[in-house]
Amino acid sequence: MKALEIKGLKKSFRSNFLIKKFHILKGIDLEVEKGEIYGFLGPNGAGKTTTIKCIMGLLSPDAGEVLIDGEPAATVKARQRIGFLPENPYFYDYLTAREFLLFSASLFNIPEKEARDKVAALIHRVGLSGHEDLKLRKFSKGMIQRLGLAQALVNDPDLLILDEPFSGLDPVGRKDLRTLILSLREQGKTVFFSSHILQDMELMVDRVGIILDGAIRRQGRLSEMIAHSTQYHEVVCDRISEKALARIQANFALRDGQFILTLASDADVNLVVESIIHNSGRILAVHPVKMTLEDIFFSEMTGGSYGVPTSRSNGTGEPRRPATGGKP
Ligand SMILES: Nc1ncnc2c1ncn2[C@@H]1O[C@H](COP(=O)(O)OP(=O)(O)OP(=O)(O)O)[C@@H](O)[C@H]1O
Ligand SMILES: [Mg+2]
Repeated sequence: MKALEIKGLKKSFRSNFLIKKFHILKGIDLEVEKGEIYGFLGPNGAGKTTTIKCIMGLLSPDAGEVLIDGEPAATVKARQRIGFLPENPYFYDYLTAREFLLFSASLFNIPEKEARDKVAALIHRVGLSGHEDLKLRKFSKGMIQRLGLAQALVNDPDLLILDEPFSGLDPVGRKDLRTLILSLREQGKTVFFSSHILQDMELMVDRVGIILDGAIRRQGRLSEMIAHSTQYHEVVCDRISEKALARIQANFALRDGQFILTLASDADVNLVVESIIHNSGRILAVHPVKMTLEDIFFSEMTGGSYGVPTSRSNGTGEPRRPATGGKP
């Protein structure tokens, strides 16, 4: 049984004058396995929060269904198993962190003694020790985010739905959150979180679903998406003239006195390396460059036409085009 299943989810909003209908979710299908960390990845406005609001019952979809542990998400039983961190959480700012968490625990009818112990442990777990009696109006954005996480964990949920949990966190906060999410998986919990911060996803998610313009464009195991996606090879060499390199017909860039050749993934790397040696060049490194999640994401955004990422450009601002191979 899946921890979360979304089938054919559609949602539209009407404009102010009810004249025009905007189709925001165009039939979302996704499945989250029990015990996995699922990254819900998409650019601003793709429909992540709208999807999450439908999961949480804050919006009612036009069509489709959301199942939690095989049961409709709207049932009380299903709801009690979920912990939820909203995007941009806002809490009563005249309460202290401890008071707010005790209040959250009371909503789940947790007995007071148990709630006090639980709240103390949660404050420690999210790194807010020492701030438990501070009024929330004095909390920074990152501290509110940590408190939001503690709140999401107060009912010891099996499934966590986190909308942009990394937003507002500094590098230490990000690392702490990654560690926390990984420890939740170790406890057998399922975590579904949205983000557009690719690096944070790459370091921890089991699977991702890429949402673009209200539809899931790609879903799968991250390791598989990245493992089968060598984009090109880089050959680093020196002690060779530009003229000789031009004869080899490989694209290259000069960096710190070294030439970096970019070869298409199916290029004959051996042939190019032999040519360089034949021309008295010295091989310093040969390595395959795999697609990162960011590359996959941009590839989807540009309809698969995205080639070599501009972030690894040749310094001219132009993306490098890999050569298909070289001739000695
Ligand atoms: N209540 C609403 N009424 C009208 N349009 C809405 C409403 N809520 C969201 N939208 C529109 O739906 C689209 C998707 O919004 P949503 O908040 O789901 O995106 P998102 O993927 O969460 O983006 P972000 O990364 O910025 O959080 C946006 O174009 C937004 O303007
Ligand atoms: Mg959002």
